Amino acid sequence: MKLTPKNYKNYAKLLDAYSQFSPSPLSIKKFIDFGLNACETKSYIFLRKELPVRLANIMKEIALLPENLLRMPSVHAVHEWYMTSFKEILEFEKMDEVSPRNLRHFCDSIVKIRNRHSDVVETMAQGVIELKESHDVDQQTEHSIQYFLDRFYMSRISIRMLINQHTLLFGGQLERAPGPTQSKYIGCIDPHCNLVSVIKDAYENARFLCDQYYLDSPELVIEQHEINELKPESDIRIVYVPSHLYHMLFELFKNSMRAVMEYHGQEQQYPPIHLTISKGNEDVCLKLSDRGGGIPRSLHDQLFKYMYSTAPQPSKSDAHTVPLAGYGYGLPISRLYARYFHGDLVIMSCEGYGTDAVIYMKALSNEANELLPIFNKTTSKFYRAGYPIGDWTNQATTLNTRQISIQCRKHQLPQSVQAL
Ligand SMILES: Nc1ncnc2c1ncn2[C@@H]1O[C@H](COP(=O)(O)OP(=O)(O)OP(=O)(O)O)[C@@H](O)[C@H]1O
Ligand SMILES: [Mg+2]
Repeated sequence: MKLTPKNYKNYAKLLDAYSQFSPSPLSIKKFIDFGLNACETKSYIFLRKELPVRLANIMKEIALLPENLLRMPSVHAVHEWYMTSFKEILEFEKMDEVSPRNLRHFCDSIVKIRNRHSDVVETMAQGVIELKESHDVDQQTEHSIQYFLDRFYMSRISIRMLINQHTLLFGGQLERAPGPTQSKYIGCIDPHCNLVSVIKDAYENARFLCDQYYLDSPELVIEQHEINELKPESDIRIVYVPSHLYHMLFELFKNSMRAVMEYHGQEQQYPPIHLTISKGNEDVCLKLSDRGGGIPRSLHDQLFKYMYSTAPQPSKSDAHTVPLAGYGYGLPISRLYARYFHGDLVIMSCEGYGTDAVIYMKALSNEANELLPIFNKTTSKFYRAGYPIGDWTNQATTLNTRQISIQCRKHQLPQSVQAL
């Protein structure tokens, strides 16, 4: 459905109207409770309003992006996909009748939308590269892009979560749910997610890549701690989306393995990676500690920037193989997954020794609420405000502004990013 100038005005009005609503964040508990008494009509009625609200909130931000970026062909394409999907969902708002035919049609439509948007991350990244290749990008623009991408990709994670829950529960796709015992899942949530098993899965897959590159890999040592030691579980479990946790761990393992192998390159023995699991009353933490030589403090601010990487650019001739590193999307996207349900991902590093990465997750599923971007006046101001002037001596060289050359790459993002 191509938007013509004639219906564009109408579309802009609808966008304004829907962006006035704030998205309704759901907790993991709400997702579970809903899934247990799954009622397709209820889900349909909720989604036909919530999906356009979430889309409109982020689309208003796309419109605030720097003009130059909006003109890049890839960004334009992404914008069009969003407009088309927004219009498609709105068709259901107009329908009064909830018939089995409509429900089926809705399910098919959101699957179509999910497919249409499957390349959004890489296409948007390509748009940023196009901008950097054709223009000088100042600090303010760089800052806006980083701010936008965090919110844009977070919005996308949330929209996919809603679509996945609906299609897995009602679209007859249960057989495609991940995991060995599919029936225990509620949509894509595992109410008894075994942390050790997800950790081992992520470790083995990262190790496979590491072995391919370095012909060896560090071992893994897992430790578990619980606040209530009187009643220790054999393996700590949590209510979570295993695919999100897997994504974060896989990225962290790849980073640690690369660091260890590079730092101890000449040695026959590599120090193992330690993974400590701890379960408290509030948080479940996974601390991944490596002895890969650490990261200089001056680079800490760069770690979560999109496209910041110290790895060599993956070769195009190896497009069919998954590289161990090189796109600079691993950490920022993993942190979004952690923050999505009000957790976090932090890095603490000691240069000359190694790095700790901690994933925090909410221990209670009713506290694990979705964290969603909302469009409002503060958001608009952010894009218009100038880059803050330093108010400490020597700030330009010590905080935030140290410029790392972000290479402009015409690259293919890894499958893990594409699957987001
Ligand atoms: N455990 C670690 N030890 C040392 N350096 C690290 C570690 N984790 C991350 N880094 C540094 O942070 C950079 C960014 O990491 P990030 O995972 O975001 O991107 P990448 O690994 O370069 O590429 P990819 O997108 O493929 O993950 C890395 O290139 C590396 O320089
Ligand atoms: Mg990485």
